Amino acid sequence: MLGRVIVTGGSGFIGGQIAKHLKERGTYVVNIDQNPPKVEFDEYIKGNIEDESTWRQVPEVAFDAILHLAARTSVLKSITDPVDAFYSNVTGTFQVLEYARKRNVPAVVSASSNAVVGNYTEGEITEALGLNPLTPYGATKAAAEMLASGYHHSYDIATANIRLTNVYGPSMWNKDSIVPRLMRYAVGESDFRIYGEGDQFRDYVYIDDVVGAFIKLAEQRVTGTVSFGFGVSYTVTEVVAMVSKVVGRELSPPHIPPQKGEMLGVKISLEKADRLGLKASVSLEEGLSRTWDDFIATRKVKR
Ligand SMILES: NC(=O)c1ccc[n+]([C@@H]2O[C@H](COP(=O)([O-])OP(=O)(O)OC[C@H]3O[C@@H](n4cnc5c(N)ncnc54)[C@H](O)[C@@H]3O)[C@@H](O)[C@H]2O)c1
Repeated sequence: MLGRVIVTGGSGFIGGQIAKHLKERGTYVVNIDQNPPKVEFDEYIKGNIEDESTWRQVPEVAFDAILHLAARTSVLKSITDPVDAFYSNVTGTFQVLEYARKRNVPAVVSASSNAVVGNYTEGEITEALGLNPLTPYGATKAAAEMLASGYHHSYDIATANIRLTNVYGPSMWNKDSIVPRLMRYAVGESDFRIYGEGDQFRDYVYIDDVVGAFIKLAEQRVTGTVSFGFGVSYTVTEVVAMVSKVVGRELSPPHIPPQKGEMLGVKISLEKADRLGLKASVSLEEGLSRTWDDFIATRKVKR
């Protein structure tokens, strides 16, 4: 049971949902984020995780874990602004680990990405593959994983890195990822274009499953890296067809040339996640339907 937790990036999509679940279970949750939260926290510290001054504002109580979500998350933006990605994702993670070291926080669970292994399409991506990031974003996540490893071995803090696939679900409407973009496109709110042929394949994992995995890793004080997703990969064309079915309208977005740095495909092995007892149970069909229900309720869209 997690009594007191710090969430970095709690004003974002995943951090907000983790906080919501933890609050429902009676956990005291502090959010550190540059932007204001959309869900309730016991304490909100507005600040940059890169700055020591931000961490000095954290209430002086003993925490059971830090769930570290704050990061610059756009792969494409990291190519145009690598400096920003570096400071948030590497210096920021360093400050998270420093706080854990100085204040004896026993567990840190950080959000990572399969972008750390680059384009690997010969088979399933496992945690044993070498690091080979193709973008500044992937490189910053790889560096963050290495810092976590160093802090575990030197200071005996449990540090887990969870390499998430594409996370989707309710409350992500301002985001740039494929599911909200397709749903906004379906109601005429924004453009949608398919890069290349649409044969890039990805694994999609529902937010509630991700929340469960984070909490379990923190509670069990796991150390090391684990890939987590639903375990089935779909092409962009297949996702467009599935969203079309859910929204009840045939979507045929235009195609444009492929983007540099985009991974061709992500298919992960769930062997290690299974061993750790992490389980995703919501299929893409079911998750898209729940997500669309939330979209139309939030946006007051007519079916
Ligand atoms: N969403 C996905 O599909 C996915 C996939 C793989 C990995 N991840 C990782 O999961 C984490 C959370 O992703 P998300 O989708 O919730 O992102 P998000 O952009 O919705 O939330 C990130 C939050 O971090 C905050 N933030 C960023 N830099 C900060 C800084 N320097 N100081 C303070 N606050 C800062 C932002 O204000 C934002 O509220 C990220 O680390 C991301 O790289 C997400």
